[in-house]
Amino acid sequence: MAQAQLPTYDIVIFGASGFTGKYVVREALKFLDSPNSPLKTLALAGRNSSKLSEALKWASKSHPAVPFLIADTSDPLSLRRMASQTRLVLNCVGPFRLYGNPVVSACVDAGCDYLDICGEPEFMERMEAFYDMKAVEKGSLVISACGFDSVPAELGLMFNSRQWVSPAVPNRVEAYLSLESDKRIVGNFGTFESAVLGVANANKLAELRMSRPKRTRPPIPGPPPPKGSTIEHQKKIGLWAVKLPSADAIVVRRTLSILTNNPSGLEGVFEDPKQAEKRAAFWSTIKPAHFGVKIATKNLLGILGFIPIGLSIGLLGLFSFGRWLLLTFPSFFTLGGFRKTGPTEEQVASASFKMWFVGHGFSDSKLASDGNAKPDTEIITRITGPEIGYLTTPIILVQCALILLKQRGDLPKGGVFPPGIIFGPTDLQDRLQENGISFDLISKSDIST
Ligand SMILES: NC(=O)c1ccc[n+]([C@@H]2O[C@H](COP(=O)([O-])OP(=O)(O)OC[C@H]3O[C@@H](n4cnc5c(N)ncnc54)[C@H](OP(=O)(O)O)[C@@H]3O)[C@@H](O)[C@H]2O)c1
Repeated sequence: MAQAQLPTYDIVIFGASGFTGKYVVREALKFLDSPNSPLKTLALAGRNSSKLSEALKWASKSHPAVPFLIADTSDPLSLRRMASQTRLVLNCVGPFRLYGNPVVSACVDAGCDYLDICGEPEFMERMEAFYDMKAVEKGSLVISACGFDSVPAELGLMFNSRQWVSPAVPNRVEAYLSLESDKRIVGNFGTFESAVLGVANANKLAELRMSRPKRTRPPIPGPPPPKGSTIEHQKKIGLWAVKLPSADAIVVRRTLSILTNNPSGLEGVFEDPKQAEKRAAFWSTIKPAHFGVKIATKNLLGILGFIPIGLSIGLLGLFSFGRWLLLTFPSFFTLGGFRKTGPTEEQVASASFKMWFVGHGFSDSKLASDGNAKPDTEIITRITGPEIGYLTTPIILVQCALILLKQRGDLPKGGVFPPGIIFGPTDLQDRLQENGISFDLISKSDIST
């Protein structure tokens, strides 16, 4: 009988010549063939070999022998060739709503695994609707949002949740994201374009959800969270904040919904009983809570600066001339926050983030059953790390990839999932800590008086 051919590469980085892609290449090369690393073979994929060569030169001065694969999202055969040669594709080609679908399709057909750095809820939910069943059948794990969107939110909520030791329970956790830098904080055009197209197509996401079965909501002890004011002053952590319309809360809700249907998490394809016990023990410590994310700054003026940016994207993004204006003059409409050329290496190196998770809940779950119950306990945790888009995102993506290579048997056979439900019970948090992203317990307080 003919033996099935093994894939040539452990990982292919698709979109390696992109702004984020080249930082992902730099991060992945740190682990290529190093002792104890499961990453032994790597290839870079994109539309243009000279751009791939430039990206590789930029990412490593030592000129490693990394092969190039030519693939274009408008050429399904090239995607099929790429997917059939690898165990795992790391997709950095965005906006995902424009380019992602054929890549996921090729990976699922080939039965290889797929991770991306998408922050676009509609794309993620559409991929789940289109490919989940086939991905299970083919043994292909498809996991979006394996970057700053939305792993810190997913693991951060779990970390906060684990500080609520029974009989204590959380009711709501609000995350406050504070971006810091000695220099100007700038994002690349790719992320801006993805956000603008997300606003333009908000109605399509609503339509998609209407056409799908309702997700199971987790039971959360206590009342629903209060509405609160548009601008909040969070005195405890000294920050002013407004709601951030990112993918994070949506992704977290997907994970909590899957967990509600599978209270011990998802069974690994070749998991042994000890591992199954470990997985169930992990999930037994996670208590669902209402979750939201806000962008925060130390002074009120800083937060007021976000409002016109949000309004111009929200309003101009709704019609085509407005979108043309936004995408032609990104720097003008974001007050310098996004640039077609992206940030300099110096700007990236000088930036960092703090994400505070302020949890409110009950010292005893019995207190929550009273309809007028007010939380009596506050637990604050925090994640800190380097610049979000081009340092933290590659670190997260590469660590998720290494887990997939090393611990594949402990993960589900296949399917389309958010990152939290897959990586929650793995050693991802420890790996992130080893790579400069810290998780800390800040305080536990009685707020009953
Ligand atoms: N999760 C997060 O926190 C996070 C962080 C950073 C970025 N992102 C997302 O990552 C995506 C990329 O952002 P970016 O700033 O890196 O954008 P970018 O610099 O424009 O890079 C886009 C990449 O896609 C490739 N590409 C475009 N069209 C293609 C096609 N038809 N076939 C094959 N490749 C194609 C480009 O190839 P060429 O080089 O040949 O043009 C380039 O390599 C965006 O969706 C962004 O939102 C997410």
